[in-house]
Amino acid sequence: MTIYCEKDYEAMSRRAAGIIGAQIILKKDSVLGLATGSSPIGTYEELIRRYQAGELDFSGVTSVNLDEYRGLSGDNDQSYRYFMDTHLFDHVNIDKSRTFVPDGLGEDPDRTCAMYDDIISREGPVDLQLLGMGYNGHIGFNEPAEYFEKKVHCVDLTESTIEANKRFFEKAEDVPRQAYTMGIGNIMQAKKVLVIVSGEGKADIVAEAFTGPVTPHVPASILQFHKDVTLVGDEAALSKLMATLSR
Ligand code: GLP
Repeated sequence: MTIYCEKDYEAMSRRAAGIIGAQIILKKDSVLGLATGSSPIGTYEELIRRYQAGELDFSGVTSVNLDEYRGLSGDNDQSYRYFMDTHLFDHVNIDKSRTFVPDGLGEDPDRTCAMYDDIISREGPVDLQLLGMGYNGHIGFNEPAEYFEKKVHCVDLTESTIEANKRFFEKAEDVPRQAYTMGIGNIMQAKKVLVIVSGEGKADIVAEAFTGPVTPHVPASILQFHKDVTLVGDEAALSKLMATLSR
């Protein structure tokens, strides 16, 4: 694993955008696995800046997003489709028809999952998968569980995730209770994985995920078995990991 310990959120975002940008420059038709949450917002802003400066061309890029709330339409401002459009896709020259997010309004969950799995198989393999990490070690919406789910599936969100994500909604009751997410198997099939973490609140789980036992109780710990992981974090989020590694 390669680790970049950056001073703050802005430096983390620049580093992550540099890695994603390099991927696009080296392979114009890259398939990017993309993520939502507060962690990647600065990375997307930096990618937009580089696009506007003429340094990046997204015209050949395909994207597959990790997850989507069940029950939200793409024009709901809390949906992950809306997030991706407003934070990235609307500001770069990506072909929108080549950007994929699970269908939050899919009526039959099994069918919705199977369809998204087919999209990932058809468009993949993902060249570079961007990941944030939840406070309980979730990646995408793979919550702590008894086993690793391989494929796209519909999950019941944990109270801690609902609590963490309610800041984006008017009230906690508005946070959807279920979501569609890529499985751990889908994520592990990406050729490269780029994890971004920031803030002191993530320090414990980051250290646990990358130095503790590999267990579905800490879903991100499976990344210890991936052969090409880059972790970019700010000093606060990486403090405990760096301390553990230097012992
Ligand atoms: C959500 C998303 C995850 C994301 C996580 C962390 O639950 N489904 O993909 O990684 O939040 O979010 P943040 O970056 O805001 O801490």
